[in-house]
Amino acid sequence: MGLFRKKQGGKLNLEKLPRHVAIIMDGNGRWAKKRGLPRSAGHATGAETFRDIAAYCKEIGVQYLTVYAFSTENWKRPPEEVAAIMTLLEKYLIEAIEKMEKEKIKIKFFGDLTALSPKLRELAAETERISEKFEGVQVNLCVNYGARDEILRAVRAYAEEYKRSGKAVNEESFSDYLYSMGLPDPDLIIRPSGEQRLSNFLLWQAAYSELYFTDVLWPDFSRKDMDMALLAYQKRDRRYGGVK
Ligand code: IPE
Ligand code: IPE
Ligand code: MG
Repeated sequence: MGLFRKKQGGKLNLEKLPRHVAIIMDGNGRWAKKRGLPRSAGHATGAETFRDIAAYCKEIGVQYLTVYAFSTENWKRPPEEVAAIMTLLEKYLIEAIEKMEKEKIKIKFFGDLTALSPKLRELAAETERISEKFEGVQVNLCVNYGARDEILRAVRAYAEEYKRSGKAVNEESFSDYLYSMGLPDPDLIIRPSGEQRLSNFLLWQAAYSELYFTDVLWPDFSRKDMDMALLAYQKRDRRYGGVK
């Protein structure tokens, strides 16, 4: 693979990829509706898109990919839809475990998994355990994830620790209480489907993330769309509050 790949609107520099990309996988329902299909069909196709984009990130050398699959607020949806998503997640994890030695993608979960079925929790644990040894991309699957919930948990855990040790927390050490402990903050957050909001995703970690929005619906999101997002990222000037 060469250093540069020619892309419409410029060249993607594979040496300057974001280390950490996060994606809000949105638009499955609208994708299905447009086709007169049940929303669950959108979620099923969206899962395929996720599989392909994760493989692509591994191929080009993105180190961390964090994807929002199910939020703490998504329980508000009709029970049939929630059940369909959980069934798909089960199916996805069973397949991922089967293909693991071939795909070699490290998977971690962010979120409160205690609300999931025992079977799903077991599959999640098994996926993490088997894939731990893989190098290259690490995929963080956010399930029953909410950033406010994540921050509150961190605050509670920190308060306990403080009672014990009296150790004061700073920005860096506070990050160790989050699901994302030890990871760099996302450099780039992508949201497809035309919505321009974070919907309770990575609120702490997104402080200086570059945001990229596209109207493409997640089930239609292709490697080409990923390249476009990466290219847009490479044109950004990240200042972190400083001057150049
Ligand atoms: C994202 O797609 C998947 C989940 C939130 C689980 P949506 O289901 O939100 O799709 P739209 O936004 O209704 O099109
Ligand atoms: C955010 O999408 C959550 C996921 C993609 C998992 P939503 O569709 O739930 O967000 P809102 O309701 O449009 O803000
Ligand atoms: Mg949505």
